[in-house]
Amino acid sequence: VENGLGSTPQMGWNSWNHFQCNLDEKLIRETADAIVSTGLASLGYKYINLDDCWAELNRDSQGNLVAKGSTFPSGIKALADYVHGKGLKLGIYSDAGGQTCSLQMPGSLGHEEQDAKTFASWEVDYLKYDNCNNNGISAKERYPIMAKALQNSGRSIFFSLCEWGAEDPATWAKSIGNSWRTTGDISNNWNSMTSRADLNDKWASYAGPGGWNDPDMLEVGNGGMTTEEYRSHFSIWALAKAPLLIGCDVRSMDSATKALLSNSEVIAVNQDKLGVQGKKIKSNGDLEIYMLWLFLVQVWGGPLSGNRVAVVLWNRGSSEATITAYWSDIGLNSATVVDARDLWAHSTKTSVKDQISATVASHGCKMYVLSPK
Ligand code: GLA
Repeated sequence: VENGLGSTPQMGWNSWNHFQCNLDEKLIRETADAIVSTGLASLGYKYINLDDCWAELNRDSQGNLVAKGSTFPSGIKALADYVHGKGLKLGIYSDAGGQTCSLQMPGSLGHEEQDAKTFASWEVDYLKYDNCNNNGISAKERYPIMAKALQNSGRSIFFSLCEWGAEDPATWAKSIGNSWRTTGDISNNWNSMTSRADLNDKWASYAGPGGWNDPDMLEVGNGGMTTEEYRSHFSIWALAKAPLLIGCDVRSMDSATKALLSNSEVIAVNQDKLGVQGKKIKSNGDLEIYMLWLFLVQVWGGPLSGNRVAVVLWNRGSSEATITAYWSDIGLNSATVVDARDLWAHSTKTSVKDQISATVASHGCKMYVLSPK
């Protein structure tokens, strides 16, 4: 939507994947502190987003949402002030239904204008808007009401639709929102992550500056996948111009997690100003691979500004494999000579012709930016 936000995919942190309903103002303040002290803020992670369970079960006598007294005693405005004081932005969560998914707080259906005004008065910068308990009314009816309420709230508020791809939001949400979920919830395992990537890929042509496909938040650092798997997760999300919303406890993340989330060259692909979603170009059925059944190897890629191309060689099989991307696959003219920057090794191969090929660990990937000479 043209609200001046989301010219590149949003970056930040959200409480849900790691903490579910166990969030409080201390956690949020400490997370904001950690996002700054670890250097993640200066890499672009700027939204600190509350998810479900931040409010009291009931509205007050005027029908206003109220921050939960036991966990957010200082209130949301004070939290926004704290987060803004760190140079960051605060996100909040509600639902386009009668209650949120946890059933522990009200949703905004029928209270859209009032809640948008409340969020604006608290100086909130971002709304994630969920889809539970929606009385069977179409998302296409419910979401535009909140979009309009946000536009009339007097504050620029990033609008993130979370209706799980239920009504093909890629085809209609761009005029009202800055991102829309294309899938059900991610869980912290390889099969869930890879299937989110595949489901989201289908909608690539609808993404662009102002509105992005959202295959759900990052699980990097939550422990259910190997480092190689998390490297693939982060690389593919970056290539697919997905929101980069960290979902782990950044206060205690280990050095491997920090290194993955802090790769500025991978982040630069995600934040490239051309804003074209990279996609799956080939998978093993198209490739001539010895003992095909052992491998599930894929080439993903897409254009970047400056006539550059981003490529991910992704090995989804259970054994190490050699994967090749040919220029004809990835939209380069056959005569093109490139410098190939390996974004994880941080090294450059000069004068590369025809193809780029590498041996890739099981469940791992290589990621390159190819710059024509
Ligand atoms: C839904 C959303 C999740 C999370 C939970 C909170 O499942 O898709 O991302 O917000 O609700 O209850």
